[in-house]
Amino acid sequence: MNITHISAECYPIAKVGGLADVVGALPKYQNELGLKSSVIMPFYDNKFSKENEFVSICKSEVLLGVYDHKFEVLKLKKNILEFDVFFIDIPTLLFKDYVYSYEDTDRFLAFQIAALDWMLALEDKPNIIHCHDHHTGLVPFMLQESFKYTSLNKIPVITTIHNAQYQGWFAYNKLHLIPPFEMNNAGLLDWNGMINPLAAAIKCAWRVTTVSPSYMEELKIEANGLQDLLKQESQKCVGILNGIDIKVWNPETDVYIIENFSEKNVTLGRGKNKNWLCETFNLDKTKPLFAFIGRLVGEKGTDLLPEVFDTILKEKECNILLLGSGHNEVEEQLNALKEHHKGNYDAFIGYDEKLSHIIYAGADFLLMPSRVEPCGLNQMYSLRYGTIPIVRSTGGLKDTVIDIEDKNGFGICHNEVTVLQIEQAIKRGVSLYNNQERFKEIRKNIMKIDHSWDASAKEYIKLYNSIN
Ligand code: ADP
Ligand code: GLC
Repeated sequence: MNITHISAECYPIAKVGGLADVVGALPKYQNELGLKSSVIMPFYDNKFSKENEFVSICKSEVLLGVYDHKFEVLKLKKNILEFDVFFIDIPTLLFKDYVYSYEDTDRFLAFQIAALDWMLALEDKPNIIHCHDHHTGLVPFMLQESFKYTSLNKIPVITTIHNAQYQGWFAYNKLHLIPPFEMNNAGLLDWNGMINPLAAAIKCAWRVTTVSPSYMEELKIEANGLQDLLKQESQKCVGILNGIDIKVWNPETDVYIIENFSEKNVTLGRGKNKNWLCETFNLDKTKPLFAFIGRLVGEKGTDLLPEVFDTILKEKECNILLLGSGHNEVEEQLNALKEHHKGNYDAFIGYDEKLSHIIYAGADFLLMPSRVEPCGLNQMYSLRYGTIPIVRSTGGLKDTVIDIEDKNGFGICHNEVTVLQIEQAIKRGVSLYNNQERFKEIRKNIMKIDHSWDASAKEYIKLYNSIN
């Protein structure tokens, strides 16, 4: 079975968040299970495109409204990934040194049209088209409705919602950019008076998945306006928990971390990573280290962190290290705290893949006070590296972390996203750390939890088989 994933991100080529990790891993595991899985993504002006050589496999023009844009389909010259990636290069629109910006409607619409135009010409057509998030949300609609893609409309198409907060809305003055279709069916594009690519995907895709079972249930109650649509379409919706790429995220072989380790030498190995973090960020080695890694946005609960950190750090019982970027105001507040809590706190505002790995390998606890978390990969990376997760029980966090007070528990969970509950959760972490015997036992056990892609990749195959 030939599977074509269409996505804006794919690790290690272009990554903003977890979407990249998923699209960079799932095809690998699908190929191992005997499928032929590949990815179509935009060609960006980034480190990866500068450092690798590509060959052209097709040159054409894509019509966006009344303008033709030159485009080329590229492939890597050397097969360095474990799956094929086809890059859509549209120099006038897509080839930028960023993935997302304010002009995304035109960029990603052109990307989707070019991808389908190219597919029209392919002899070997995919058996399944698997779209990811709203950037590819018009693919199911165009396949079903646009006259020029009639020959592709029998190909089953799936949409995976990684995050329903972002829907890609745009106004009707851009309707003419979508290749001609029967205007009586324009309602399929609409949600609340706007063209809504995610809503169109939910209506037109043959199946809709989200990245954890709990998030699927939550979406039927609150989905940034799409809850009624998801309830209405629930018979074709299913939640499949993400996995992690255990080849990339393996503390025994990870090339980014200071010292490799396994469950057998976890104390020594993690100790060296923690020492490096404490020396680099001027923290106190003798105290527990709590970390946060991620986007500083409302969904992640990070607007509450400056107040939480300021209160907790006054007690001088722990260290806190944050890696992330996002809302300016939160960044400023996090930076301002450095002055007041020297020796126990630091924040690295920015994106740093290597540092993130060292934090998973060296911090004692990882904080995830998310208001919304469709799946969350950070907690699964932490578990694999022996960092105890402290999470708000929601979405994928609810499906992957059990509180230490419950049967077979190994993490710290809280129900509300409030300053008080996050503080209490951190204090529970400090108490657990002070009971070194229990702390170390939990740490060893969590490293054995299996969140590899194997099980979820099989669930996707079942889903593909049900519609192919
Ligand atoms: P989301 O996709 O909502 O941001 P996930 O938990 O699914 O959240 O995935 C986040 C991914 O991005 C993880 O691989 C995490 O390590 C990485 N990440 C997030 N912020 C940073 C950062 N500032 N520096 C390095 N890696 C980051
Ligand atoms: C989104 C979600 C995150 C999920 C990731 C990968 O970015 O916010 O929870 O883990 O996609 O599916």
